[in-house]
Amino acid sequence: MEPKQFKVAVVGATGAVGNLMVRVLEERSFPVGELKLLASARSVGKTLPFRGADMPVEELTEDSFEGVQVALFSAGGSVSRKFAPVAAGAGAVVIDNSSAFRMDPEVPLVVPEVNPQAAFSHKGIIANPNCSTIQMVVALKPIQDAVGISRIVVTTFQAVSGTGKRAIEELRLQVSDIVNGREPKREVYPHQIAFNCLPQIGPFLDSGFTEEEMKMVNETRKIFDDPEIRVCATTVRVPVFYGHSESVNIETRKPLSPEEARRLLEGAPGVKVVDRPAVSVYPMPIDAAGTDDTFVGRIRRDPSVENGLAMWVVADNIRKGAASNAVQIAETLLDGGRL
Ligand code: A2P
Repeated sequence: MEPKQFKVAVVGATGAVGNLMVRVLEERSFPVGELKLLASARSVGKTLPFRGADMPVEELTEDSFEGVQVALFSAGGSVSRKFAPVAAGAGAVVIDNSSAFRMDPEVPLVVPEVNPQAAFSHKGIIANPNCSTIQMVVALKPIQDAVGISRIVVTTFQAVSGTGKRAIEELRLQVSDIVNGREPKREVYPHQIAFNCLPQIGPFLDSGFTEEEMKMVNETRKIFDDPEIRVCATTVRVPVFYGHSESVNIETRKPLSPEEARRLLEGAPGVKVVDRPAVSVYPMPIDAAGTDDTFVGRIRRDPSVENGLAMWVVADNIRKGAASNAVQIAETLLDGGRL
């Protein structure tokens, strides 16, 4: 019998994440029988490479999803809100990278290493979590399972690629302008991002937190299916192209030594422990970029609380934090016989 092949659509295929979704489908040999690349009318006429062929980009319309079985969306919340129900209505399983449906109780929020079974309860749409949440829960899952986690304090150092391709270009241009003595131009971020750190990702809420920070709080609770877990996040944009880093402090419900935590992490799916401080070996974004793993290092006791641990967690934000996680969700459905 011929192995089953699927008609797959990528919505936002010309964007930073969408482009990578196409590459990850190819790299991971997802059984794509037919591929539809969708973007705005601006991109009609462009092509993208897939398995050695130049594939045309088509305009996203209400009729784009006929016969599509898997639709990967990464074109922003408003496109998802409008077209994800259209795709699901046409019979596709939508895996949506925007935040539009993440907290919808009817929509599973899935990280395959953490809560794969949640994917099977979908009603047409599955949400891909926020990039910073994904890498944090991958690293914390073995500890949550072993001893429980009561509180997380996290500070992120987030790459500009998470904002999209215009932000990647903005950092490149600002660096070039500044080193050449020209005035840097600002369009995407409220301040200069080159040689700077911005403690704001997304709009501020009345509480003083940003939307990005509250995504980490609410999504972590949903993915761990633990409304009790207390999370305090500070999210910071830094002048890095690819790879988010996180300083994570946790309080566990039962005691866990750094050595035990390291052992648990070494056996965890999707995790690579990189932790030899004596020789300055620890995770860094330049090493994580281009990979699908979540790297954990600097694992140590946090002596300021009982049962405290501190660690440093790094992953490629547009691969594991977005495109690869989305394709892995599709693989989870496939392996579970749900496609
Ligand atoms: P386009 O390139 O045609 O503008 P990024 O997050 O890197 O900025 O990419 C956003 C992606 O979402 C791009 O592929 C972009 O297509 C796509 N996109 C944005 N708005 C729309 C829209 N209204 N309809 C379809 N695709 C859209």
